Amino acid sequence: MLTHEAVAKSNERLEERYAGKLHPNPVLTRTLVSFQGNKNEQGYRWFKFKEGFAATLVRYFLDTLGPVTGNVLDPFAGVGTTLFAASERGLEAVGIEVLPVATEVIEARKAAFATPCKQALADSLQAFVREWANTQPETEFHFPHLRITAGAFPPKTERALCSFITAANKVPDLTVGRLARLCAMCVLEDISYTRKDGQYLRWDSRAGRRHGEKRFHKGELPSFEEAIAAQVRQVCQDITLDPRRDLFTAPATPGKIKVLHGSCLQLLGSLATSSFDFLMTSPPYCNRYDYTRTYALELALLGVGERDIRELRQAILSCTVENRAKPRLATWFDDSLFAQATVAFNQQTTLQTILAYLLQLKQAGQLNNNSIPHMVRNYFWEMTLVIFQLARVLRPRAPLVMVNDNVQYAGVPIPVDLILSDIAETAGFEVDTIWVLPRGKGNSSQQMGAHGRCELRKCVYVWRAPKEKLAN
Ligand SMILES: C[S@@+](CC[C@H](N)C(=O)[O-])C[C@H]1O[C@@H](n2cnc3c(N)ncnc32)[C@H](O)[C@@H]1O
Repeated sequence: MLTHEAVAKSNERLEERYAGKLHPNPVLTRTLVSFQGNKNEQGYRWFKFKEGFAATLVRYFLDTLGPVTGNVLDPFAGVGTTLFAASERGLEAVGIEVLPVATEVIEARKAAFATPCKQALADSLQAFVREWANTQPETEFHFPHLRITAGAFPPKTERALCSFITAANKVPDLTVGRLARLCAMCVLEDISYTRKDGQYLRWDSRAGRRHGEKRFHKGELPSFEEAIAAQVRQVCQDITLDPRRDLFTAPATPGKIKVLHGSCLQLLGSLATSSFDFLMTSPPYCNRYDYTRTYALELALLGVGERDIRELRQAILSCTVENRAKPRLATWFDDSLFAQATVAFNQQTTLQTILAYLLQLKQAGQLNNNSIPHMVRNYFWEMTLVIFQLARVLRPRAPLVMVNDNVQYAGVPIPVDLILSDIAETAGFEVDTIWVLPRGKGNSSQQMGAHGRCELRKCVYVWRAPKEKLAN
């Protein structure tokens, strides 16, 4: 029988081992480690991907760990912050991303910046929007609502949105059409009765949904016409800024960006051994956050249906209580890598102690959700496999930078930073530094009620890829 104290002791032992690697870093503010830092950044500010980090953070690590030459990888690319910031330096960047909303942001932005005459592109986009605003054609497009998005817009807003998409689908210039649809996707949250707040999608009471919060009122919503005009203005401004004259740091010849659409668990195996010189990433956190729910409006607009959403939820790195074990996982990995990862996972004592304790709490009926042990287990198991693949695809001594949060369940703090660092060492990485942000993260209100306030460490870890590849 494990006790809470035994788990705390095991955590302490791991902390003692890494005490010399944990260092506070006042530069790593919340703004830098979140999307906030992108709010005034050319191109980065178009789509508010709240799970993203700031381009400045990527530039900071490229500077402090560099000079970086060659190829950059982000296996959880999101909207491509690492990729675009690396390409500003002329570096070639590869990203892997499973969420169609995020890949569409990258592809549309790439298409815009690759267009030789940006002024002509901006003029065509503005002209298209003016023409649409004057005519507002009959809609042939109907917003393909999902069960969880029904009622998200006032009817007039939804009609205007659908008329706009109808027109955008007919524009002969494919890049103009794509950018117009991207702009529409960027304003969906603003024009809807929803708000992406923390872990979930909040519903304004005016949407009349059963789960709409009685007291949540977003204030006056902008009309679709107002919102799209402002968004298009911003996009046109950003694509026509001259990087040499203006504040932005884009190079004369940006590096190429390639995005692999799909799960990195499946796709990392297709990348050549020792082919990357720098990696910066932020995987989903082990915090029950469900991207398919938060981005349901955007996924619906892209035509992702109910079945696809269910599949997508399962393809995402396990981080919700609904994730099941991925049945084909073993087939995506080389046998020897899979075997080595299995040993590393099973031998991580702190993790195994936490998993055993969570199972014990489940059996005693003391968890608010019985799938938590399963989720935590699968999160670390899948991350272990990812880490072993990263050890393979990185060149010897190449830096790997990871942003992640520690979490807590049933009063049990889980030092994600140290557990992953220890697993990385088993994969041959050297733990360089675990940078600790000046301010940690409070635990959830649910946790706080039952277990008191406890600030969880928030870190950015820097590892160095193995000097030699692990033997088969
Ligand atoms: C914390 S976000 C990364 C944000 C990114 N750093 C940015 O600035 O945009 C984690 C990303 O991992 C993606 N993701 C989750 N599971 C994945 C998987 N199995 N393969 C690839 N990407 C995945 C999510 O869709 C999400 O975009």
